[in-house]
Amino acid sequence: MELHTKQCGLIIGLSIILAYACLARAETHYHNFVIQPTPVKRLCNNHVIMTVNGQFPGPTLQVRNGDTVVIKATNAGKYNITLHWHGIRQMRTPWADGPEYVTQCPIRPGGTYTYRYTIEEQEGTLWWHAHSKWLRATVYGALVIYPKLGSSYPFPKPAREFPLILGEWWNRDPMQVLQQSMITGAGPNVSDAYTINGQPGDLYSCSSRDTTTFPVKAGETILLRIINAALNQQLFFAIANHQMTVVEADAAYTKPFTTNIVMIGPGQTTNVLITANQPPGRYYIAATAYSSAPGVAFDNTTTTAILEYTSQRFSRPVLPQLPAWNDTNTANSFTAQFRSISRGKVPLQIDQNLFFTVNLGSINCSRPSFRCQAPNNTMFTASMNNVSFVLPRRNSILQAMYQNTPGVFTTDFPPVPPLQFDYTGNVSRGLWTPTRGTKLYKLKFGSHVQIILQNTNIVTVEDHPMHLHGYHFFVVGTGKGNFNPQTDPARFNLVDPPVRNTVGTTPGGWVAIRFIADNPGVWLMHCHLDVHISWGLAMVFLVENGVGELQTLEAPPRDLPQC
Ligand code: C2O
Repeated sequence: MELHTKQCGLIIGLSIILAYACLARAETHYHNFVIQPTPVKRLCNNHVIMTVNGQFPGPTLQVRNGDTVVIKATNAGKYNITLHWHGIRQMRTPWADGPEYVTQCPIRPGGTYTYRYTIEEQEGTLWWHAHSKWLRATVYGALVIYPKLGSSYPFPKPAREFPLILGEWWNRDPMQVLQQSMITGAGPNVSDAYTINGQPGDLYSCSSRDTTTFPVKAGETILLRIINAALNQQLFFAIANHQMTVVEADAAYTKPFTTNIVMIGPGQTTNVLITANQPPGRYYIAATAYSSAPGVAFDNTTTTAILEYTSQRFSRPVLPQLPAWNDTNTANSFTAQFRSISRGKVPLQIDQNLFFTVNLGSINCSRPSFRCQAPNNTMFTASMNNVSFVLPRRNSILQAMYQNTPGVFTTDFPPVPPLQFDYTGNVSRGLWTPTRGTKLYKLKFGSHVQIILQNTNIVTVEDHPMHLHGYHFFVVGTGKGNFNPQTDPARFNLVDPPVRNTVGTTPGGWVAIRFIADNPGVWLMHCHLDVHISWGLAMVFLVENGVGELQTLEAPPRDLPQC
């Protein structure tokens, strides 16, 4: 911010016309992010967690569409780390995207790296988080992109706005929770609490004093920028006695619709307007698990914050009604209401027709061992098209691609499953075990891509929030059971499909997405339930350069960390 503002000051002295041009100009925002161990008290105990600048949640970035962001990250902790700007398109700047070993080697303890990127044609709520093992459990914050100066929201300007970040809290170091599950082969321990802006709220012990409150004046309309930063859990969200109007998701405006319940998957954001039209008082805002996989353990607690009419500090809040944890119908009918306000054209002709199964899996152990504590002496795993993704160790995929270093990855990720089967039926055990590899799928610059993400009943069906880096995409269709290429495309919405960067696969169903591969680089696609990434539920696209500078990825920054 500093630089341009000062230059503007000088120019304002010279001429009003020039000053106007200057105000409308994009800014550059400089920030220092120091990743550091920080003591906090939660759920009656003292803990040391990793934070950015000692803040939990971390600092909110506030920028405008067209601005440039420069963040110097310093690793003052003991773990390797990277930062990811979730949903930012990173046009030609995959070097700043952040996933560890995909677009960069990690920042070592004591090291630094400067992330530099420009916001191009994006507006709304996104967020940033660590992209290294499970560090994002506490290293995250909101990233708010306002419209350019002189333009405005496609809805009346709210009186106030608040980021509302849903998180997931462990009473142990989340890195140890992950490590333990990797050693035992079983699922990780479920979390001990959910949080709203870092606080669990009144329903947990020793937490009431610090419950998050959102002040509102009677009659006014406010905007909540809801972000699901939870590690492993989709959440239902509601506000007692107040309807919400959804106006934006994943930094794409939607046709407004009203709802009592929001379902939000990890990685997703949803902006809602709320009008304080109830008797002045205090009303609970609450979130609890939506768990789509039958028989899978989850944290069944409820986090709360308070919507507080400013004149009513002391009245007793009421809780909203939340759906049952397994209420897939409510989750699906909420999601079905999204329609975008046009964000470019939906590709109608498809060059790349891809079909990816999204699977859990298990590895059989010949004899019982400590590493095989999943049911029936197995180890859990996960895959797409039967490939369980393995991160390289010696180099990042992007560096290897840029420098033509052989042996780091291959480009033979299968466009369709190696074997067709009744994906959502009773899948025979013989099909539960994937192969492993660092496999990429190559896309020509500008190709029109369709991907069917088909959920399978391997181990269990489950709603996987699938996130694609470097892109947003149109969600053109979804359905139950196996995708039928003869009949299902006829029902696709090619007129106003929702635009997202993270989409849930219907449990035991499929979802169809489309995008134009106009951003060269390597881009990770993965399930945003972190437990599943660790098991390999990911793949990577390699998008080739097009013609000329504007279609070619930039050179790596000089301070890019080396492995
Ligand atoms: Cu929210 Cu791969 O990231």
